[in-house]
Amino acid sequence: MKKVIMVKKRLANGEPCKKCGQVEEMLKRRGLWDQIDEVLWADETDPESPGMLLAKKHDVELAPFFLVEEGGETTVVTQAVVLAKKHLAAPQDRSRATRPAKATQPEAPKEPVAGPIGQDSIEAGAIELAGAGPLTIMTWMLERFGARCAIAFSGAEDVALIELAAQTGKQFSVFCLDTGRLHPQTYRFIEKVRQHYGVTVQMMFPQAPAVEDLVRRKGLMSFYDDGHQECCGVRKVEPLRRALNSFDAWITGQRRDQSPTRADVPELVWDTSHRAEGMAKANPLAGWSQQKVWGFIRNNDIPYNELHDQGFISIGCEPCTRAVRPGEHERAGRWWWEEATQRECGLHKG
Ligand code: ADX
Ligand code: SF4
Repeated sequence: MKKVIMVKKRLANGEPCKKCGQVEEMLKRRGLWDQIDEVLWADETDPESPGMLLAKKHDVELAPFFLVEEGGETTVVTQAVVLAKKHLAAPQDRSRATRPAKATQPEAPKEPVAGPIGQDSIEAGAIELAGAGPLTIMTWMLERFGARCAIAFSGAEDVALIELAAQTGKQFSVFCLDTGRLHPQTYRFIEKVRQHYGVTVQMMFPQAPAVEDLVRRKGLMSFYDDGHQECCGVRKVEPLRRALNSFDAWITGQRRDQSPTRADVPELVWDTSHRAEGMAKANPLAGWSQQKVWGFIRNNDIPYNELHDQGFISIGCEPCTRAVRPGEHERAGRWWWEEATQRECGLHKG
């Protein structure tokens, strides 16, 4: 019979090691936690603690680590991803069973996940995909995550992402953060895309009490006075976090040439901005220019937001977006009253 032991570290200050907690969270989220038979602590201040003795016996310095005992043999595993792939049974649907099914979260996709894909695999993938084309990146993601991967669609040129996903013929999910302040043209466009591709666009709304509180305290246009962060926090970032709870990976339309704040955007990254245990985030258009995106949209006869024909380039909420003049930078119309280096709403940190 197989026995799996996890050894976690307790630091000298009494706190559990952060990475151990993240690995435990990842195993729980993947529905693999019930295959860990025993957890032992390696207490930094106590060399005789069970975990410290095991670390010494097996000459391991990393935490956490795992011991897999089977047929009289003990295998030491220091990477959770290797444990999950080689020593634990496929999670099947157990990963979803561990998630709270909140009515306000996107519907849980129905297909099984390909298997646990953790930080190590994503970091290896990031090297493989650096400089790769959008279709290669999209295919790589959907092959691994399928409908557990969601495209963050904002109703501007993100439709290129949906077209790419559709071209792969694989399953994928789409969500849109409806701040309640989008242009009427954007709502019409979202509906057009939904029908054109036959996709479900999961609309995420802000929490009503939080919006009511903000508006009662500061009115409807507080962002012009004290910056957009508070309003974006309520209307965009919190709903994004709720949306991401239902997925293992997300895809955005960020590009490196979009803004000084995006100059280092990678094609693929392990993203811990919104979930402590991390998740995969891909930016398939990272290396594309604005012209390239528009060439793709026109060559493939892809529907687009009618605001683009009225001088809008980067489109967000109606009060915080304006058309740009010829020669102006594409994001000059976003939060134009603020410094260029402040023009991020918090969706894309780190
Ligand atoms: S923002 O941070 O300034 O608002 P931007 O509009 O450039 O972002 O969009 C960058 C990417 O973030 C988009 O390509 C999209 O993937 C995601 N995104 C932005 N706004 C939304 C939204 N309202 N709903 C879903 N995704 C969004
Ligand atoms: Fe609020 Fe403007 Fe941010 Fe939209 S872009 S959430 S209206 S501050």
